[in-house]
Amino acid sequence: MHNANSAPLIARRSGPLKGVAQVPGDKSISQRALILGALATGETHITGLLESGDVHSTAGALRGFGAELTAERPGRWRVRGTGVGNWQSPKGELDFGNSGTGSRLVMGAMATTPITAVFTGDASLCSRPMARVLDPLLAFGVTYEGQGPKALMPLTLHGARDAKAVTAHVATASAQVKSALLLAALNAAGLSRISQDALTRDHTEKMLKAFGADIRVFPEEVGETIAIQGPVELRGCAIEVPRDPSSAAFPLVAALIVPGSEIELPGILLNPRRTGLIETLREMNADIQVINRRTSGGEDIGDLLVRHSKLRGVTVPAERAPSMIDEYPILAVAAAFAHGKTVMLGLEELRVKESDRLAAIATGLEANGVAIQIAEDDLIVTGMTSVPGGGTVTTHMDHRIAMSFLTMGLASQKPVMVDDVTMIATSFPEYQDLMRALGAVMEAP
Ligand code: S3P
Repeated sequence: MHNANSAPLIARRSGPLKGVAQVPGDKSISQRALILGALATGETHITGLLESGDVHSTAGALRGFGAELTAERPGRWRVRGTGVGNWQSPKGELDFGNSGTGSRLVMGAMATTPITAVFTGDASLCSRPMARVLDPLLAFGVTYEGQGPKALMPLTLHGARDAKAVTAHVATASAQVKSALLLAALNAAGLSRISQDALTRDHTEKMLKAFGADIRVFPEEVGETIAIQGPVELRGCAIEVPRDPSSAAFPLVAALIVPGSEIELPGILLNPRRTGLIETLREMNADIQVINRRTSGGEDIGDLLVRHSKLRGVTVPAERAPSMIDEYPILAVAAAFAHGKTVMLGLEELRVKESDRLAAIATGLEANGVAIQIAEDDLIVTGMTSVPGGGTVTTHMDHRIAMSFLTMGLASQKPVMVDDVTMIATSFPEYQDLMRALGAVMEAP
């Protein structure tokens, strides 16, 4: 998988990183704010929205269904929804670019309205399995035509007429699959009960409450069950998007591995289902302080103070994976600079991200002189006091692989080159400017 207009970049060993880094809005919450706003009656006013490729792709698709979305100024959007069940069939194909979350959540959101839409995306998205979302949606009565058994895009989805509530168990540890079912349940008559063993991110549940849905969460011995009564009338509301911990992870780890660094990351989302990386890094002896803990729109947030630290290897349990699923590439980079081995267990979900991240992490580390082992779905990284670097990393159209290995180059002996940084704009368009402002040395080859 390769991007036709790729732009390589080199990251070099840098002096201490200093300053305050204002990372952009959370991607998961931004996507959900637009989708729920487009389903609601009345207006939704969003501040702090992530202005990135993925979010803009979702906005374009939602306009196709008949919602009005207006960017009043950067990060501040007004959405006038159609009301649940009132989306129309879009005229053309919906191009979701690189966005797995946008496309999968929208599949759920249209599943119980009798309309038809064609979903497509870039080469990365067109290689990702959509059957994991579409097959559970069959219970609501959808039909679809995709490519092959994994239901790859381009695919056509036909929503169900007169859908009834379902009881479903989500076997995959995926918030996207859970969220798609919850959004489908909005227009299905009766009480839907969706259970999941893994405690995946719960932004959909929290935000549905804020929009007035009757939704309840019951803890189970393993996992939880979410009950939602349909049909639901969602009412537009005000949403303030906190800053994205998955984007903060890059300057955060950079500050930990570049000697003498000390940075502040204000206003970061600290939902406990997103903080697995911070917990793991602290176990690795990272100096990360959380100050000014507060809540905003039902979500926990806080300011992070991060100082360079001597890291040591740890074992990361498989149960923690859902709370840090997007952070394994950058954790693997931190692990390369730690004393001893870091063992990361239960990484099967990494194989179906924007790239096969387990393979991309492994080849990127090896290309830069770091020893790794993969045993089934577990990854072991052997840390070094001095990481050689000097390699070129293939990013496979994956923004997080690009940012992770640029981070490595800031502290390795020799520079690290990544083959393509264009995909970084899908989640963190200001990444290069923000890192340079802290003192990072990054330049075109
Ligand atoms: C997301 C869920 C995760 C994550 C993705 C965002 C979400 O995907 O990797 O970046 O917003 O629900 P999975 O649901 O496939 O684990």
